[in-house]
Amino acid sequence: MITILMFICICNAITEKQVKAAVAAGAHTLRQLQAELGVASCCGCCAETATDYLPGGRYAAHQTVHVLDDQVAPAANDGALPARFTEVIARRA
Ligand code: FES
Repeated sequence: MITILMFICICNAITEKQVKAAVAAGAHTLRQLQAELGVASCCGCCAETATDYLPGGRYAAHQTVHVLDDQVAPAANDGALPARFTEVIARRA
């Protein structure tokens, strides 16, 4: 069996799995990731990527997706949409 590791921080050998675990355990700022894992504490090249795993980031486990109302056909049980945007919470597998 081959295990493929994706490294987020090369300087400190921090993997994506470690970053995701830290975020799942409650880290929600880059400073917290730095304190817990040491990510972005050397050259800093990984700071942006590590930040993408934090809540609201593009690789976050939960993302909020804004969908324009006019791009969504109302379902029979929708009723009136309360705002211009409908918020959908998507969970990545
Ligand atoms: S790659 Fe993370 S500090 Fe250098």
